[in-house]
Amino acid sequence: MSEWWRQAVVYQVYPRSFADANGDGVGDLRGIISHLDHLQSLSVDAVWMSPCFRSPQRDHGYDVSDYFDIDPMFGTLADLDELIVEARRRGIKIVLDIVPNHCSIDHAWFRSAVSAGRGSVERERFYFRDGSGPNGDEPPNNWLSLFGGPAWTRVTEPDGSDGQWYLHVFDAGQPDFNWEHPDVQQHFDDVLTFWLDRGVEGFRVDAVTVVGKTPGLPEGPTPPPGLPAAHASAMNKHFQRHDIARAYWARWRRTLDRYQAEHPGREPFTICEAYIPRKPQLILDYVAPDQFHQAFAFDLMLSPWVAASVKGFVDSYVNDVMNNGGALAWTLNNHDTHRSVTRYGRADAATAESWTGNNLVYTNTPVDVALGVRRSRAMAVFTAGLPGAFFLYQGEELGLPEVLDIPGDRRQDPIFHRTHGNEKGRDGCRVPLPWTQDRSGNHGFSAGNTEHISWLPQPKNWGEHSAESLDLDPDSITNMYRTLLKERRNVASAEAGEFSWLETEHADVLGYRRDRLAVFFNLSDEPRSLDMSGEVLVESESGACWDGDLAPNSAVWLRL
Ligand code: NOJ
Repeated sequence: MSEWWRQAVVYQVYPRSFADANGDGVGDLRGIISHLDHLQSLSVDAVWMSPCFRSPQRDHGYDVSDYFDIDPMFGTLADLDELIVEARRRGIKIVLDIVPNHCSIDHAWFRSAVSAGRGSVERERFYFRDGSGPNGDEPPNNWLSLFGGPAWTRVTEPDGSDGQWYLHVFDAGQPDFNWEHPDVQQHFDDVLTFWLDRGVEGFRVDAVTVVGKTPGLPEGPTPPPGLPAAHASAMNKHFQRHDIARAYWARWRRTLDRYQAEHPGREPFTICEAYIPRKPQLILDYVAPDQFHQAFAFDLMLSPWVAASVKGFVDSYVNDVMNNGGALAWTLNNHDTHRSVTRYGRADAATAESWTGNNLVYTNTPVDVALGVRRSRAMAVFTAGLPGAFFLYQGEELGLPEVLDIPGDRRQDPIFHRTHGNEKGRDGCRVPLPWTQDRSGNHGFSAGNTEHISWLPQPKNWGEHSAESLDLDPDSITNMYRTLLKERRNVASAEAGEFSWLETEHADVLGYRRDRLAVFFNLSDEPRSLDMSGEVLVESESGACWDGDLAPNSAVWLRL
């Protein structure tokens, strides 16, 4: 068994925003096929696609109405088959995104639950409850949605009367499944097998922490006023019961292990989105041998620009998780979080707290994009040498900043709408990618380059960040990623050795070693001398990082 996923480089495609081959303003599978050479040039092992299943897109695909089909907006099953073949031809595996906690209110099961009425067996696959208060017109309990507002919405009964309420930890369009129900458990076995049979090599599993619910759904704590929606909601542990969900995930693992045993040469894996900020040790629950294969190490992404903080998170993940057998994936960006260029370019990057899926905790301090790009490059060089997998998010290799000024009437994220605009949400990291330099049109995102129809508007200067312009510049961030990930294949995974920190003279310079690979990372704004020599393999700024001193906000790989 190769356990290829342990050291893999995985590129996240957000299909709506990657490339639009049919010119309707929304990305699609044929758009991904048309840019596979770009992904191959980055030496990625796999592509994880955010959900492209049938969905009314109320949460942009994370609200699935049919888990066994591709949404026509993205293409067809035949397009996916072709994508799998074309990717495989370039040495790239396809990883899908499965959403187990909830489906869409347009899912056939939910529709039939609503129409079958109170007390029906159809309603047992979800959490339908009578309301509280004299007329049942208050939610059944005080649980809050992670996207803002109550976690309950009322339905109209078939006879037209005000009816029961259903639970949704996210948007009202995303009813939570009742995982105790055997139909739900069987459904996901079937989903996994269906996509494995089509040649998919793994699954990113959405929002696993909210699947187990305390029986009886007791009241949660009352959060103090003024907290961001996600913080307030997450105080309630009654919908974060891993001890209850453990049995469900064990069943998934058995399904995957059985599949692997019955299909020699196949090694499907799961990576879970277990978002548990600042408690790395709790991740071990999710990456036990009977649970998921791998989990994201999110805290590094959320770290302020401070060496001690970065070091603390790496230490804790390595010691508490990896050294106890848990496989991790490092990541610096995703479709729920402000882009690293903007996080690290902020005047308060050293103190800002981050929270994925929510940007209220970011201040409005000015952003120095050039500094943010420089720091993102350095952070990527530091992170890509760590033991474990490395996930990057589309546009990271283009140095894209967060788009902060999307007009309210163009914003799409349900977080924006459910918080009445108090929280801007995640659209700013989902703006369609720029592929070409043109000053007009939508920078090659859509076939026909049709500016007016992109589902989110691009900034005017997006062409500067386009793949086309960065390809031409040997010192660009894109070419740095190419060198970095190629060297990672050559060195880091091949020679992957024990990880150990290296002493440096300066508290704001981090260094580590894996066999003959040494990585140094200067988080300060000053050059820092380093007592180390070796052959330079990768620099975050070409030819400009290392001359005995390590340049400010830079990182280097040396072969000792
Ligand atoms: C986590 C996903 O990453 C996010 O985009 C989505 O909104 C929620 N889960 C709900 O599915």
